[in-house]
Amino acid sequence: MSTNTTDNLRKVTTRRLSEMKQRGEKIAMLTAYDYSMARLVDEAGMDVILVGDSASNVMAGNATTLPMTLDQMIYHASSVMNGVSRALVVVDMPFGTYQGNSKEALASAVRIMKESRAEAVKIEGGSEIRESVERIISAGIPVMGHLGLTPQSINKFGTYAVRAKEEAEAQKLIDDALLLQELGCFAIVLEKIPADLARRVSQMLTIPVIGIGAGNGTDGQVLVIHDMLGINKGFSPKFLRRYADLAGIMDSALRAYIADVRSSDFPSPAESY
Ligand code: KIV
Repeated sequence: MSTNTTDNLRKVTTRRLSEMKQRGEKIAMLTAYDYSMARLVDEAGMDVILVGDSASNVMAGNATTLPMTLDQMIYHASSVMNGVSRALVVVDMPFGTYQGNSKEALASAVRIMKESRAEAVKIEGGSEIRESVERIISAGIPVMGHLGLTPQSINKFGTYAVRAKEEAEAQKLIDDALLLQELGCFAIVLEKIPADLARRVSQMLTIPVIGIGAGNGTDGQVLVIHDMLGINKGFSPKFLRRYADLAGIMDSALRAYIADVRSSDFPSPAESY
């Protein structure tokens, strides 16, 4: 077996992601929220599976990620863990479970790790959540940072437009990225920022930087599975590449099933006992 084939079968760990960055190998990350999808995503060879709080949008139909609770994230994460054997599974800490104080943040992260069996958590923000990041990492829980467009702060931003276009915000993002690395985060996500800035940050940091809407200069990419598979057709930002039209395929199948039931074509004798 060649080294590459062996590598493709090896369990992905935070250490392995760091090695990938050092070797210049791009990291593929995608969201999943349930057992069946997570199993397909893992079997396809994804490096990282994010149980994102985007579950609030694509699974529950909410307008923002804010309503997601810790219990709901743990439910999604434990379902995902049942379907994954190779990818590293990272779970979003939902809004309100880590911003208040660092003890509460640690208690939330511990619940996620214990009850879902996931391997890392992701947190939105920089210097504002420094103590929470420190305390969670000091308990041995790997933390992925998330800067740029941080959807849990949508009510502060007032828009999902590109972040850090102005010099002051770009400088704060760079300072926050360096801080998160110094605190011990194993990776960070940069969402919806100019490609040049994302490339600069990726070159500055020794930890992997995963982009979404942040151009091609990062160490990896992440998308929301419902968006890239074309299940969720109402969301079409410029950065999204659609790899399938599952909504179209599902619609044809559903209509065919309804027609077959109505015409008594289904079930046939061969499909009966
Ligand atoms: O919740 C999520 O899906 C995310 C990704 C968009 C990075 O945070």
